[in-house]
Amino acid sequence: MLEVCNLKKTFGDNEVLKDVNFKLENGEIVCLLGKNGSGKSTLINCILRMLQQDSGHILFDNIEISDYNSKKYFSEVSALLESSANVYSYLTAMQNIEYFSGLLNIDVNYEYVNFLLNKFSIYEFKNKKVGTYSLGMRQKLAIIISLLSEPKLLLLDEPTLGLDIESKVSIIKILKDLAIQKKISILLTTHQIDVVEKINGRVILLKDGMIEDFSLHEYEKKFMIKYKEGSKIVSKQVSGNIINTLYSIKLENIIEINRAEIDLEEILMEKLNESNKSGI
Ligand SMILES: Nc1ncnc2c1ncn2[C@@H]1O[C@H](COP(=O)(O)OP(=O)(O)O)[C@@H](O)[C@H]1O
Ligand SMILES: [Mg+2]
Repeated sequence: MLEVCNLKKTFGDNEVLKDVNFKLENGEIVCLLGKNGSGKSTLINCILRMLQQDSGHILFDNIEISDYNSKKYFSEVSALLESSANVYSYLTAMQNIEYFSGLLNIDVNYEYVNFLLNKFSIYEFKNKKVGTYSLGMRQKLAIIISLLSEPKLLLLDEPTLGLDIESKVSIIKILKDLAIQKKISILLTTHQIDVVEKINGRVILLKDGMIEDFSLHEYEKKFMIKYKEGSKIVSKQVSGNIINTLYSIKLENIIEINRAEIDLEEILMEKLNESNKSGI
């Protein structure tokens, strides 16, 4: 549904995006991870047509986004940008929803809105002024507003920044559900490793102006096998299907099989820091 090819964006002589390539499928939730200043917001802004790339292509449903009808594009692609929880404190949640629907020129679909309010656990507060809400509730409302146009693609720039752990966990769970239930593709940027861990899906890493794609699932499927080999005891780490490895070891020689412990933080830090070597 979204395809970014050879995207390049520079600011003066600052080559922020050098050669960015990735695809996003329907209903997929993907974490865009990168250090501060690595270009995550720049990439999001290019997808939102707020910045024009120097070269390369961004395709949405196989159409170059600059050729897409604007009204249609912005009803299908929605975003909540960093520190833009611009909900109005003196309005209630419902009044905010009605106000923003008006701005977006869409009729309020109350059934859908109630579904969202319920989903984000703020239904019972929908007629309370937003000024009385916690930061987490305001952020939930801001996400609901970004979903009003029933987009196919939702871009969230640091959606959990500054939130307490409970709001963070609940927002991530809801987003994961929505991706599945409503087939919404979600691309969210973060530099918080616990968020990546909670999403527990595909991660794309932006570093040195390029994307590295990997899935945390690869790391989950690692096993440690301990077995006797002659008089020695050998420990071996195996990825993926362990059956083939087991065939090569006599059953009576196997001492134990454990899931290899994965330290996600360590893996990600290692990956992020590889870029340091090039001096960026
Ligand atoms: N409008 C702009 N003009 C000049 N430089 C910019 C602009 N926007 C971002 N940058 C630079 O691009 C780099 C990437 O920024 P950004 O995309 O905000 O990173 P991130 O969101 O990953 O923290 C930074 O070095 C930043 O200073
Ligand atoms: Mg940013």
